[in-house]
Formats: sequence, C-alpha cells, structure tokens
Amino acid sequence: MKIKGIDDKKCTVCMECVKECPPGLFSEERKQSKGKRIVFSDTYGNCIGCGHCISICPHNAICFEPAGESLTFPHIEDISRIIPYQNMLSFLQGKRSIRRFKPTPLPVEEIQAVLAAMQYAPSATNARRWEYVVVTNPETRKFLESEIITIIKKVKVLINLKWLIAWMLPETFRKSLTNPGMKLRLQEVIADHEQGIDNILFHAPCIIILHSPRYAHMSGNDAGIALTYGMLAAQSRGIGTCWDGYAQEAFYLKKKLKKRLGIPAKHSVFGVIIMGYPDVTYHRVPVREQLKVQFIDT
Ligand SMILES: Cc1cc2nc3c(=O)[nH]c(=O)nc-3n(C[C@H](O)[C@H](O)[C@H](O)COP(=O)(O)O)c2cc1C
Repeated sequence: MKIKGIDDKKCTVCMECVKECPPGLFSEERKQSKGKRIVFSDTYGNCIGCGHCISICPHNAICFEPAGESLTFPHIEDISRIIPYQNMLSFLQGKRSIRRFKPTPLPVEEIQAVLAAMQYAPSATNARRWEYVVVTNPETRKFLESEIITIIKKVKVLINLKWLIAWMLPETFRKSLTNPGMKLRLQEVIADHEQGIDNILFHAPCIIILHSPRYAHMSGNDAGIALTYGMLAAQSRGIGTCWDGYAQEAFYLKKKLKKRLGIPAKHSVFGVIIMGYPDVTYHRVPVREQLKVQFIDT
C-alpha cells in the first residue's frame, strides 16, 4: 500500500496524522492563499506503509493506492470491548498445541481464514516479507515426514559418536545429544514411522510453512508473531495447531526440501505449523511457573 496524500476536502487539519506517523511524513503547511493544510511528503521513501495515518484519521481523508475502502467495524475505536481481558486470558490459557488430529481435511475457506489473521500481524518496520507454502496433499506430507526421519536417523548416529564430537557442538545441542532420553525418543519416533505412525507431522491434514529472506535480525520475530496470530485465529474456529520445530529444522538442514516445495534458495524457513480438527479434549490448563520479572520502578 502506498500513501498518496490527503483529500483537502475531507481534512479538518486535526493534526492526528502529524502526531501519529512513525517516520513523521505529515506536516502542517500555511499558505496565505490556501490557509492551513496538512501535506504528506516522502522525498526519501521513508514511508513504511503501516497505514497508521489511515487508522487515525477521523475523516477518512488519507488517499492511498491501490484504492479501496479501509476496514472498519463495531468497536474499532475501543477494541477492548470486542474481547474482554478475562475471555482473552482464558482463551490463551486454554490453547494447547494439538498433536492428535481427525483425518478430516480442512476446507480451503478455513485455511484462508487462518491466513487472513496472519495478514494483520505486526512486523519490524512493517516489513511483511512473509511468504507461505500450504501443504494439504498427503503425499507431500509423507515425503516431508520421511525426509525428517532420514535426518533423525543421522542424528542417532551422531548420538553414538557423542563423546567424540560433543566438544564441537554448541552447548544446548551438546546437552540434548548427551541426554540418554533423547536417543530413546528418537528410536521410538523411527520405530513408529516404520509402523505408519507419524510422530513428526502427526498426520496433520494441513501444514503451513512460513519462509522469507533474512533481514535485520528481525525475520524470526516477525515469523513467530505471524504464525502465532494464525494459530490463535485457528483455535477460535475450532482448528488445532502445533508449531513443528522438527520440520522447521529439517528445512535448515536439507536444502532440497526448499527446492521441492518451491521455496527460493535465498529464503529461510522461519516456522512451520501443522493444523487440523483436534481429536483430543483438554479439561484443565497445565500449571506454568511464574514468569521471572524484574520491575525497575525506583
Ligand atoms: C518454536 C516451537 C517449536 C516447537 N516444536 C515442536 C515440535 O517439533 N514437536 C512438537 O510436538 N511440539 C513442538 N512445539 C510445541 C511445544 O512443545 C509446546 O508449545 C509446549 O510443550 C507447551 O505446550 P502448549 O503449547 O500446549 O501449551 C513447539 C513449540 C514452539 C513454540
């Protein structure tokens, strides 16, 4: 979206856009002939297209391209009325990572509804560099799962060599590699796979892969927020999701996976979520430790 300027006929010079614009591209112009007016000037291309000017203008006076109606709805001026805190908190507390799905495919409208929520995620400097691959084809899911299993088999070999190579590895990786439980778990995952049980992508009918170029150390943050928006939206429609770290790691380790799914070589996969109708019911919220928070107020 590109800001083109201000419709003088609608503008009341309330100055809200001047106060709001993050890069400060609106200013008041005083000309004897025309009086006071607000002008938009972006000589150096600093507009980040965040649209805050459109949101804040009480008179809908901001002109932009491509032309269209900006969205508005009841309570837009006080969105706390849409979801009161206690409802929001219960929703967040009750949301679980889902690993048991019904085989029912997700209708495309449901997938679109989840993607629509991701469209409104915040991103660093409004970068919005996300691109998505949506996999609903069972063959592609099986291909991905098998490729991940191949990686897991290699990790198992590494575990056997752990004493030889541990010193070369970063601490977190070293810890999990030398943990005996890890080897057992991987053995189980491989054995399950051989029996047709998918403990990687959990037979999910839909997989969403987010990829983007790396930019200014923020690409991972932006991806995390966008996928979280999607996961929360999915939950509100009765669709379960789980972030799939195994799959994400596989894209990092095996470049051919990106090629197979048409992801540009220069892009990185910053997150993978699996989705489907839950085949599980939860009755309680697990206890979570208190956050470690330091208040600095004096
Ligand atoms: C970045 C990230 C990666 C994850 N990777 C996996 C994974 O590979 N497999 C899996 O079963 N769960 C995965 N999870 C789900 C976590 O295990 C789960 O969020 C955590 O145990 C808390 O459970 P809850 O989400 O139900 O509260 C991942 C979650 C996140 C945020």
